[in-house]
Amino acid sequence: MSMHETKSWPAGQGTMLPASMESWNHKHILDLDDFSREEIDLVFEIADGMVEILARDVKKVPTLRGKTIATMFFEPSTRTRASFELAAKYLGADTVSLDAAKSSVAKGESLIDSLRTLQALQVDTIIIRHPCSGAPYLAAKHLETKIINAGDGCHAHPSQGLLDIYTMRKQLGDLSGRKLVIIGDIMHSRVARSNLWGTRNFDIKVILCAPPALIPYGLKQWTENCGLHHVSIEHDLDTAIEGADIVMPLRLQKERQQSGLISSMREYIRLYQVNDARLSRAKPGAIIMHPGPMNEGIEINHDVAYGKRSLIEQQVTNGVAIRMALLYLIAGGKIR
Ligand code: NCD
Repeated sequence: MSMHETKSWPAGQGTMLPASMESWNHKHILDLDDFSREEIDLVFEIADGMVEILARDVKKVPTLRGKTIATMFFEPSTRTRASFELAAKYLGADTVSLDAAKSSVAKGESLIDSLRTLQALQVDTIIIRHPCSGAPYLAAKHLETKIINAGDGCHAHPSQGLLDIYTMRKQLGDLSGRKLVIIGDIMHSRVARSNLWGTRNFDIKVILCAPPALIPYGLKQWTENCGLHHVSIEHDLDTAIEGADIVMPLRLQKERQQSGLISSMREYIRLYQVNDARLSRAKPGAIIMHPGPMNEGIEINHDVAYGKRSLIEQQVTNGVAIRMALLYLIAGGKIR
């Protein structure tokens, strides 16, 4: 019986499937540029159900029993990998976790051949993280198996974008008229990019704030060409943070900065670190978010990271619910 045919979700819980299930139209999850507002709302509605499961003593339902989900990570990860694996396990799926450094890719096998091996092993969904932008798209093109992008180079990180917006909505309610400031290494941030696409139907204003060297060349033009009219760029953090509802500093991705784009770390900290003094310019109820991993003392100071406005741990917890919702949806969603 397909997931569509089961009349309750998670299976056996007696809750009716959301009526809007028909709006789901994804075989793969590659980025949020092709997600409608209805689809995002559906993910959130299902994630709410998953939050209930996560609050139980026994966090296990048989919804994906018999399915096999593989993670294949070619870059380091703590949160994303652990939360996808836990999400799969909580839904009753079998999981296989491939450490790319120890897989046959390290022996010269191509990415596609390695992924084809997983397909031949009857894996239902492959969750892939890769340093090259586009790698999950290549996989989706060559494989029948469903693919979830868990971060590809500087390009996209759709599940992070969804969990960020979900966390904002849970805390602030309606996002209409809200102001989100994303600060720091915009140049290399797949999280920032997926947030831009994900927020475009929420009537929210997004300000990208960084020194010019950390803003990709032509970004303004790109946002205009893509219809991302809710996005603007501001180099001065004190101006950008004024009246903000959501403040999201990003890690400096030194592993992707070929020749070092910051001339002085002290200067960067002075101009771009989110600390209490800076935060006092934001709205009184403003929230702090960070995709992690944090470099405390650089983009964010300790008091802000662990202060009462911080939702950073909440993001991690919500990440499991969002990933459960995504695994559930692509296991049973209508296939394009
Ligand atoms: C981010 C990533 O890997 O893109 N982290 C995450 O997935 N939570 C951001 C980063 O590495 O700085």
